[in-house]
Amino acid sequence: MATRTLSLADTTIGKKAVMAVSGAILLGFVLVHMAGNLLVFSGPEALNSYADGLRKLGPLLWIARAVLLGAVLAHIWAAIALVKANDAARPIKYQVVQPVATTYAARTMRYGGFILLFFILYHIAHLTFGVTVPGGHAAAPPAGMPGALAGTDVYYNVVASFQVPWIVGVYVLAQLALCLHLYHGGWSFLQTLGFNHPRYNALRKKFAAAFATVILVGNLSMPLAIMAGVIKLPS
Ligand code: HEM
Repeated sequence: MATRTLSLADTTIGKKAVMAVSGAILLGFVLVHMAGNLLVFSGPEALNSYADGLRKLGPLLWIARAVLLGAVLAHIWAAIALVKANDAARPIKYQVVQPVATTYAARTMRYGGFILLFFILYHIAHLTFGVTVPGGHAAAPPAGMPGALAGTDVYYNVVASFQVPWIVGVYVLAQLALCLHLYHGGWSFLQTLGFNHPRYNALRKKFAAAFATVILVGNLSMPLAIMAGVIKLPS
């Protein structure tokens, strides 16, 4: 009978490590992406120059995109593999389901993960390709618009979109799902790293809650400020 050497990725701890490393890359992206997007509060010049600067990175931007896509795919693969291993370890379900915190967290991770996947697909279609941007995707700022640059008019695409209530609704729901996912993901990531001691557990939860809250508040501030008319299209 042919034998195969067990690789680290075949083991539960290996899959958890894949989950943690890919999750850490995604946590970093979410933070940096939010910080960049917050430039919308500084006006078209600031946001569009930043977006243009990213585009000018050329091959480096494509490397970053490849790492990001790899992290998303690895994260989904490890999640499915861990769920399968979990179910195989208990083929006969518990007769009495206790509403314990861990099963609640695991359920929200599975459903939340799906919601986020659909959100990311919509989000790229929306802001990268312009699907549902009112008046059409602005490939370049209209002539005479302050901050006119050669690249895509990210400021117009973002601000015009968040004047549409249903688009704001989609983003608000997605940010709530992201917040729960980051909270659970953040503390299990620290647990996988080894911060699993009664002395650190409360700290771990506080850190994860603080991170998830910062991302929630930052990401919600943009659609809500635009909808409230605090951020406007230049006249
Ligand atoms: C209100 C919050 C957000 C705003 C205003 C925003 C804005 C943007 C903009 C303007 C782009 C670039 C479009 C382009 O010119 O190609 C973009 C791309 C992207 N965003 Fe967001 N974003 C938000 C939240 C998020 C969240 C929560 C995630 C992930 C969970 C995310 C993931 C991505 C990804 C993966 C891309 C494509 C990156 C690339 O192709 O280089 N965004 N976003």
